[in-house]
Amino acid sequence: MKIRYLVTPCVALLVAGCMTTSDPQGPQANAWEQYKDWFKVTPEPNTGDPTGFLGNVHEGLNAYRDVYVNELGRDVNQGEASFPYPAGSILVKETYRNLAAYNAKQNPDLTIMVKLLEGSSPETSDWEYVMGGDGLNRGTGTSGVAVFCHSCHTAAAETDYNFMNKSFLNDH
Ligand code: HEC
Repeated sequence: MKIRYLVTPCVALLVAGCMTTSDPQGPQANAWEQYKDWFKVTPEPNTGDPTGFLGNVHEGLNAYRDVYVNELGRDVNQGEASFPYPAGSILVKETYRNLAAYNAKQNPDLTIMVKLLEGSSPETSDWEYVMGGDGLNRGTGTSGVAVFCHSCHTAAAETDYNFMNKSFLNDH
């Protein structure tokens, strides 16, 4: 019994230490390499500011943007299961600077959201935000990337911080 009392706080400290020293990270870039084969959420690319929340991010109002969701996240995105997304769901947004670039399929920028295991990043409702297809610039918790991305995605909090989904597209 005595040993157990001693061990429990040590384990708790270790776990707390791990969580503060390293932010959790989702899968590497090959996890979304094949996103073009995934379910395409946007039947037509978005341009302008359909949600009213875009401002000049995601390359601004002239950009053309398509959103894709992986198999794990598809049912929630399409209204066949309820929010929140299950861990492992990935949303990819492909952004082209303008119509000409879209038509030429020229150098899209990728921004990605990965749903991590429950409790991994309470500040972002367990979303990891990734800026760029190479996956090098990414963040959870209170990191700069996470705060920047999540503060705006909060406008879509009711749909688990995801703007483009079937119910939004049906209403617009
Ligand atoms: C100023 C607001 C704003 C910021 C900041 C922002 N986004 Fe978005 N994001 C949007 C809007 C609005 C959409 C909906 C699609 C559209 O209009 O193109 C969107 C869509 C997305 C999507 C497609 C899934 C969805 O929710 O529809 C991903 C993935 C995404 N953003 C990732 C990111 C990442 C990663 C960052 C940070 C590097 C980021 N976003 C920063 C406003 C923002």
